[in-house]
Amino acid sequence: MTGKKAWSGRFTEPTHPLVERFNASLSVDKRLYRSDIKGSIAHVKMLARQKIILNKESTAIVRGLKEVEREITCGAFGFHDRDEDIHMAVERRLTEIIGAVAGKLHTARSRNDQVATDFRMYVKEATLEITGLIRNLQQVFYKQAKKHIDTLSPSYTHLQPAQPIRLAHWFLAYYEMFDRDVSRFLDSYKRTDVMPLGSAALAGTNFPIDREWVASQLGFSAVSRNSLDAVADRDFAVEFLFCCSMTATHLSRLAEELVIFTSSEFSAMELPDAFCTGSSIMPQKKNPDVPELIRGKTGRFNGHLISLLTLLKGLPLAYNKDMQEDKEPLFDAHDQLVSILTLSADMLGALRVDKERLAKRSEQGFMTAVDVADRLVMLSVPFRSAHEIVGRLVRHCEDRGITFTDLTDAELKGMDPKLARIGVGDLTPESSADGKKSVGGTSRQSISARIKEMEKEMKKW
Ligand code: ARG
Repeated sequence: MTGKKAWSGRFTEPTHPLVERFNASLSVDKRLYRSDIKGSIAHVKMLARQKIILNKESTAIVRGLKEVEREITCGAFGFHDRDEDIHMAVERRLTEIIGAVAGKLHTARSRNDQVATDFRMYVKEATLEITGLIRNLQQVFYKQAKKHIDTLSPSYTHLQPAQPIRLAHWFLAYYEMFDRDVSRFLDSYKRTDVMPLGSAALAGTNFPIDREWVASQLGFSAVSRNSLDAVADRDFAVEFLFCCSMTATHLSRLAEELVIFTSSEFSAMELPDAFCTGSSIMPQKKNPDVPELIRGKTGRFNGHLISLLTLLKGLPLAYNKDMQEDKEPLFDAHDQLVSILTLSADMLGALRVDKERLAKRSEQGFMTAVDVADRLVMLSVPFRSAHEIVGRLVRHCEDRGITFTDLTDAELKGMDPKLARIGVGDLTPESSADGKKSVGGTSRQSISARIKEMEKEMKKW
């Protein structure tokens, strides 16, 4: 087949030179070569086991395929412009190495089931790589949480000071987010782990193939149950892209918080120089480029997800060439996610926290206001009235430039007699946090309980 196209039989005229390039996907799909060759080896061995081809033919093909793999891996493989895609490139080179017997490899197979199988193998591997990196990141959050169980910090809603929390609680919020991401990836893995090979072009094959055996060789848990669906299905790729988008969204929220908390206005945290750059004009600047870029990259993931959904929308069954466009977005999402997960873990591990500043900030902004209201509620004041009373108390303090601790008994009584009975002034950020003993709350007790559970979970990873 050297120099001639595999499908040239029914054609009388040459391909337009631009079409050749337009049609080609080799530059993108060559990274599937390992899965492609692994899939071909399993397929051809099965053909021999089933007596569809001779043992010696299978042996020659397997040997040739291994040689092709070696050449690609060490960079000696000469890719040709005319090798439409990785499947054709491998077969072309196989023919050069072992001769015409290479033509038997494609018995009972089509590029349609071949590419779907290769792609699933790739996505399965990528999924496990990514879940490993997410676990790694979760461990960093866990370690930081243990380090900062005693660090008190403001928390925010609307980016306005809300209630004092233990900083461990903030780190562990991200642990939970990423835990969901792992479970989402692993769930989609189950649906990716189904082998399409043996569906051939779309109808199945006339040959007595053994799909279960091939699946076991390739590490698939199941074989697809409808050949038409199997070659048309890219749901697994969409799901993978959604999982990537969701994880990137979480990383982007984290990145945004780092940009805010490390800003000189907040100065609550500091990123080591290794994750920042300077300005070409303003000598005083230290810019948080890494978190900013992580935040910025998230747009791509969402774009990739939408591009694949749009690609599939309205496509008739079964294979259509449109589907060749499925790989580029997925490969990019995979690469980018690996890079931002790795950087996030390194950056978070090296994050420096200004404990004193956080502790001081926790005392400002009337963040114990809810606790004051709750104490009134415990004296059977309805919560709505308590809210109103404490609201007036805050305004009173603000007008005078004082805080809760500066209030005299007389002032408190004057606002509401019950206020004098509840120890407004002895509420500290720490006592406020430690009052939150509800499951999942920010008290030392609740956090420690969660950390214990986490340690058990981590042993099962
Ligand atoms: N390069 C193609 C793709 O990625 C392989 C499948 C080609 N199948 C076909 N019927 N032309 O989609």
